[in-house]
Amino acid sequence: AEHGSLHGKNILITAGGTREAIDPVRYISNRSSGKMGYALAQAAAEAGAKVTLIATQIRHLPYSVSLIKVESAQEMLQAVQDQFPQQDIFISAAAVSDYRIVHPAKEKIKKTGKNDLTLVLQQNPDILADAGSHKTGHQFVVGFAAETQNLAVYAQEKLVKKHADMIIANDVSSTASGFNSDQNQVTIFQNKKTAITLPLQDKQKLARGIMTEISNSIQ
Ligand code: PMT
Repeated sequence: AEHGSLHGKNILITAGGTREAIDPVRYISNRSSGKMGYALAQAAAEAGAKVTLIATQIRHLPYSVSLIKVESAQEMLQAVQDQFPQQDIFISAAAVSDYRIVHPAKEKIKKTGKNDLTLVLQQNPDILADAGSHKTGHQFVVGFAAETQNLAVYAQEKLVKKHADMIIANDVSSTASGFNSDQNQVTIFQNKKTAITLPLQDKQKLARGIMTEISNSIQ
């Protein structure tokens, strides 16, 4: 790692699906396992970077990585805002819930006797867009795009809208890749550069390929 391609760089990575409280014992979330973000943290540490991982789930990690555990999108945003100024690279691999419950109940919700229960949702902040719009000169911001169709079009849109330097697009319509699988396949988009496709492979191996593309781009 002393001579790794990311030696001396500070990297911040988010992983997993955020958990939006309904009451003290229940939440709304998604199928993200955190595997992709954890694999990126491992690959960044192997490449010599100083890694901070903000995650909603606990998985195996190299000892050198600092872990910040969060639950909700709002907590994740706060942790990212605290860490971002010290970072050279930010990778937003988390599946952030687009909505949260407006008023989570203070006590466990009981059955009412009625058949219907209504939860009112409101939009969450966009963590990647927030980082993208606050980045300064040397900082490199990387987002993912989880799509089931029109991968290239939506990825290019996210590049612009979220002020990202790179968007890693994955097709999440198949169970062999994307959410909660051990493998993934991505196409990497950057402004004014030809897209690069990395084939279906274990997330750990793929993460090393992604780190190589990032380190090539910041040289
Ligand atoms: O965790 P795994 O089971 O290993 O699965 C990996 C993965 C499929 C979750 C991962 O590879 C992935 O695609 N992560 C991003 C999922 C997602 O939320 O994609 P999106 O297209 O909805 O969002 C685009 C980008 O904006 C992402 O970088 C996301 O982190 C970010 N975002 C989205 C919404 C929001 N409120 N805040 C954000 O920062």
